Amino acid sequence: MKSLKTSLLGVFVLLLLLPAAYNRVVHSQTQKGDPPTGQANVALSDDDVERQCSIDTEVAPCLNCPVPTEAPTGFDNKTIDENFVPQEKHDAHRATFEVRDQILPDDIQDGGLGPVYNAQSCAECHQNPVSGAVSQITELRAGFLDNPCDPWGFDCPQFVDPPGGSLINDRAVDMRVKDTGEANIQERVPPLHSAGLDRPADVATTRTSLNLLGDGLVEAISNQTLLDIAAKETNENSNVHGLPIRVPVEENRNGRCRIGRFGHKDQHASLLSFSGDAYLNEIGITNRLFLMENTSLGRSVANFDFVPNDETIPCDDQITPPGQRQFCGEDSGRDIDTFTIFMRATEAPPRDAAIAATQDAKDGEEIFHIIGCAICHRDTIVTAMPGTAINLGTFKVPDALGNKIIHPYGDFLLHDIGTGDGIVQNGGPKTRLLVRTAPLWGVRTHTRLMHDGLSLTFAANTLPFASAIKRHGGEAQFASDTFFAMSTIKQRKLVIFLESL
Ligand code: HEC
Ligand code: HEC
Repeated sequence: MKSLKTSLLGVFVLLLLLPAAYNRVVHSQTQKGDPPTGQANVALSDDDVERQCSIDTEVAPCLNCPVPTEAPTGFDNKTIDENFVPQEKHDAHRATFEVRDQILPDDIQDGGLGPVYNAQSCAECHQNPVSGAVSQITELRAGFLDNPCDPWGFDCPQFVDPPGGSLINDRAVDMRVKDTGEANIQERVPPLHSAGLDRPADVATTRTSLNLLGDGLVEAISNQTLLDIAAKETNENSNVHGLPIRVPVEENRNGRCRIGRFGHKDQHASLLSFSGDAYLNEIGITNRLFLMENTSLGRSVANFDFVPNDETIPCDDQITPPGQRQFCGEDSGRDIDTFTIFMRATEAPPRDAAIAATQDAKDGEEIFHIIGCAICHRDTIVTAMPGTAINLGTFKVPDALGNKIIHPYGDFLLHDIGTGDGIVQNGGPKTRLLVRTAPLWGVRTHTRLMHDGLSLTFAANTLPFASAIKRHGGEAQFASDTFFAMSTIKQRKLVIFLESL
């Protein structure tokens, strides 16, 4: 009884002090008047900024709303809808997505690679089994931890980027090309003593490539739908609390936000923002959304840059649609718009029809629902109505993408399932240990699972996928516990269902 009283008193004191402690921690961080930077390679240091950034619901009124229809699927390079993007154009867009960029500006369309980069074309990392899908390629992210936790343990320790951002580029153009005798610009996970970085990284992780097929449909999910899913999840199981985060839309930097849905940390909300970010951060090509070359861990790369002064290079077409930027940097042909329309016109990943038709896969699907996997790996979402303005008014959902039923087996929300990679991007300090639910459509084409690719589908002596399921703790502990408590026969059925996705 005495101890109960003491602990009740403790709780009371804690409740009194809580708001003060919370304010102190949040406001002790960098206060920027601006919304998040949009450069998803740079950590947002203040949760408040994201929280205050307003969003549209993206719900268009509809009278006699038509019944939604199934979205087309296929690993066959087909356009999602001839009336949206004719096949011939879709093929041309795919060819741009597959172009391998070069260092030298002989042909400015394909020049400008690097100076620091990860690969030469989008398709290099997004092509299994067809361009736009996934691959085994991973990237590196790293950073430091500062500010030891205060007694209340809020938002700490604080993640801090290495100089130039958390992405550690795996490749750099050859230092001998210009023969300047300067230090190599190759990046690495710190320490890098010759660059003055003596402190070892506290956090380092690999990140797997992601599937892009069907992402036009994901972009067409309204903000309200994602908020509704988040509210529903907690009701379905009190352990689960998917977090929607608000991120800026690069093509309309007006101080407002949209719910993030792309990337392992939900760091982007629009495919155009992601294309601009990826063209710079993966391939080293500046573009109208990101005109500044990346540094090499804070060191200037100017002497290795064969296309200098990107912020003064105009777009080829000289057209500046309202609200768009006038300069295109190394992307004078606006490839980022082509990548975007290519992704928007891809069909969603198809099921393996033969496996899906087996009784085992059908039983497995039922088990997947019964034991709670489907609370996060949601099997059905309906996109916004055609005509709805999304991406802060910069894009209207076309008929091809609107009012469509999709089966992503994901909720596009962030969760703590104990696998958090410790990196903060657009979402603020609270997202440090959160990861987006991996959408499972197309998962049968992945050989290395989870954000870091460290769960191998065929780990010795276990069922395929078991090593990934084993790592589900935190919010998903209940589901993995139930999985491993089931008979091998049932586990096998669930795995056969996963093999059909
Ligand atoms: C070096 C490999 C690599 C290259 C090259 C690359 N990507 Fe990616 N892509 C990735 C990885 C890794 C992720 C996951 C990033 C993360 O969240 O950490 C990703 C994620 C994405 C996503 C988010 C998909 C989703 O559903 O969440 C989009 C969109 C994307 N890439 C588009 C592109 C485009 C367009 C290009 C070409 C400009 C490109 N990528 C080039 C590796 C690459
Ligand atoms: C609380 C939400 C939640 C629940 C419940 C949940 N998962 Fe997950 N799942 C996630 C998240 C988040 C990830 C990504 C984690 C990471 O990358 O670190 C993930 C990743 C996966 C992956 C890896 C996919 C890939 O492409 O790498 C598989 C497979 C998977 N889950 C299967 C399951 C199964 C089977 C169940 C039920 C036993 C389940 N999950 C229950 C949230 C959940």
